[in-house]
Amino acid sequence: MSETFRIGLLGHGTVGAAFAELLDARAASIERLTGRRPAISGVLTRSRGDAHEIVDGADLVVELMGGVEPTRELVERALRAGTPVVSANKQLLSRFGDEVWAASREGGAALRFEAAVAGVVPVIRVLSETLAGAHVDRIHGIVNGTTNFILTRMAATGEPYAGALAEAQALGYAEADPTEDVTGADAAAKMAILARLAFGAAVGLDDVVYEGIEHLTADDMAYAEQFGLALKLVGTAERAGEGVSVRVHPAFLPTGHPLASVDGAFNAVTIESPAITEVTISGPGAGGPQTASAVLGDVVSVMRGAPALDVASVPAVIASDVESAFYLHLEVADRPGVLAQVAERLGLQGVSVKSVLQTGLETNARLVMVTHPVSESRFYAAVELIGALDFVRAAPRAIRVIDESFTA
Ligand SMILES: NC(=O)c1ccc[n+]([C@@H]2O[C@H](COP(=O)([O-])OP(=O)(O)OC[C@H]3O[C@@H](n4cnc5c(N)ncnc54)[C@H](OP(=O)(O)O)[C@@H]3O)[C@@H](O)[C@H]2O)c1
Repeated sequence: MSETFRIGLLGHGTVGAAFAELLDARAASIERLTGRRPAISGVLTRSRGDAHEIVDGADLVVELMGGVEPTRELVERALRAGTPVVSANKQLLSRFGDEVWAASREGGAALRFEAAVAGVVPVIRVLSETLAGAHVDRIHGIVNGTTNFILTRMAATGEPYAGALAEAQALGYAEADPTEDVTGADAAAKMAILARLAFGAAVGLDDVVYEGIEHLTADDMAYAEQFGLALKLVGTAERAGEGVSVRVHPAFLPTGHPLASVDGAFNAVTIESPAITEVTISGPGAGGPQTASAVLGDVVSVMRGAPALDVASVPAVIASDVESAFYLHLEVADRPGVLAQVAERLGLQGVSVKSVLQTGLETNARLVMVTHPVSESRFYAAVELIGALDFVRAAPRAIRVIDESFTA
């Protein structure tokens, strides 16, 4: 019988318990692959286990506790001692990436984190291995299943945000307190990790600008359909000038875009590089068994001797103004000359309009348009001018449009 490979398991909740079960079921086949039989040597929860004893007595630490303290101390302790760590913790890696990767370098210990971004979708592997030699220009990701489920329901049924959120909660796709998901904070943490890997720049959560989905209306979705657009919460990480821009916001996608058809709680990531056009990978972004499966993949990689990933510590230069196309929704008084005056204000800031829809409703009318790409600062300067016009009846609503399509 081969020597046991001891796994110290920190956390035994949704993912931790699923991981323990999966490891048990797969131990024999992992032994055939790696020559050692993995077994859990200790489990830490709030009521069980001695943290330092478990970390110090393991050949590998699997961290599925979440949070940043005391998690960070335990993960760094393991890495500094030369013990590899597998973690699904996007908060820790996006907020304390510099410190955690420094500990990994110091101890010469691998840190693997496939499950921290998009669950079982193998985006970390694709960026760090398959595309390690490619020059990645941009990543777009649907990396939060809760918000994608809510937006899919709003689009399919025409129901408002609150109704779709309640449905997501009833079905277990959203937590009782959905703040992290619906504000875009969860997706921002994941995009920071992807940006760090893709661009070799030490992007942290504080560098990511994010906006959530709470203010979106079914009305916007109905108009978008007429323009052939689908509404998603999209994380974008891209090179911009000498720096990088990392952000999360609702965005309209042309229906031919690979992310436009990603529905329900699924996640998907599109990676763009001149040499390859684009690669899109998708699959379940959360769930105990699904996430545990990604964690186990990392465990097997480490057992086979996978090296530490080369993760950047070079400070990131964050670009402050980037270009985007926009959808602009205006409620205006129904009278002649309105469109001309709006067009003039847009023209003053160099914003050109790609398509317009105008609907009249007795005294109020809606003017809905999609612009060509323009710098965000110029677009918002134009919106401020438009908002001050006396016939504009409500605050203008603007949503970014990802104006890209790909052909082989
Ligand atoms: N759930 C998913 O679908 C999913 C998907 C991708 C990534 N992740 C990530 O996976 C990690 C775990 O998520 P989860 O959903 O499994 O969380 P969870 O169900 O809340 O489980 C957390 C586990 O960690 C333990 N724990 C938490 N704080 C602790 C502390 N201070 N000391 C000792 N034990 C502590 C808890 O102990 P008790 O049992 O005593 O409460 C529990 O066993 C998180 O980083 C999360 O972001 C989760």
